[in-house]
Amino acid sequence: MKNILVMGAAGQIGSELVPALRKIYGNSNVVASDIRTDINEEFKNAGPYEIIDCLESHKLVQAIVEYKIDTVYNLVALLSAVGEAQPQIAWKINVGGLINILEIARELKFAVFTPSSIGAFGLSTPHDNTPQDTIMRPNSIYGVTKVAGELLCDYYFQKYGIDTRGVRYPGIISNVTLPGGGTTDYAVEIYYEAIKNKKYTCNLKPGTYLDMMYMPDCIRAGIEIMEADPSKLKHRNAFNVAAMSFEPEMIAAEIRKHIPEFEMNYDIDLVRQAIAESWPNKMDDTCAHEEWGWKHEYDLPKMTEDMLNVLSKKLK
Ligand code: SER
Repeated sequence: MKNILVMGAAGQIGSELVPALRKIYGNSNVVASDIRTDINEEFKNAGPYEIIDCLESHKLVQAIVEYKIDTVYNLVALLSAVGEAQPQIAWKINVGGLINILEIARELKFAVFTPSSIGAFGLSTPHDNTPQDTIMRPNSIYGVTKVAGELLCDYYFQKYGIDTRGVRYPGIISNVTLPGGGTTDYAVEIYYEAIKNKKYTCNLKPGTYLDMMYMPDCIRAGIEIMEADPSKLKHRNAFNVAAMSFEPEMIAAEIRKHIPEFEMNYDIDLVRQAIAESWPNKMDDTCAHEEWGWKHEYDLPKMTEDMLNVLSKKLK
């Protein structure tokens, strides 16, 4: 039986990963932690919840010892667009928080999951079928922190034998908690606006292809990599995981199949556009497939149907 701590549990991924983990491993075996105090009661009461800042080592140590934690999901991060506005804070949180938990893992011995991202790639990376092992020269501070994170996780595995694992997530599309200031946020907002107003103003240009993934696949990837047989893993951290690749016109067209009057306009955010253009159009996730059996379930039509269905009930 695993005892798991999820750091950043109130965020976009954490708020759905925690219930999924609790279903598998039991409510009391999954401890949620975040700096936020305004958590909804149902989430808070379903299992242990600890208010912890990722930079406060003593509080992390306390929780890890108290709950006999053997696996930590470190989901704490500033995303790409907000990171550009506050680069020092992005470094402090994204890298500082990670080093903190890796150092504690060195002492107390537990496995650590850390998500990397399509943001770890840059303009000089091959954009189509981006290989697992390729040029990593990101142009955003978010990407710099993600590459540093990938390298740190590999280093702590090689040097100290810490069981670090992770994936490079695409933009994540979900309907429970909104993402907090990323470049791929449009692909979430568009569904909310399609339901509420039947129109959306997109901040990326038509033709901007990016990798995206629906939350159920995102959660499954995070759980499956931590359950994978370590003897089969040639890579440990930062596996490319892909599900779908599209540009804004394609998601709008898919929405129109359900809401024919849906209208899309454009008002380009130059910061997000520059970041998006530096990221892959489509990653190659063969290594994840071969080493631990990764396979996505949701494509654009299947995700769109589900998103519109869930949000039409939620936003009633
Ligand atoms: N969704 C993230 C962002 O846009 C990428 O990992 O910042």
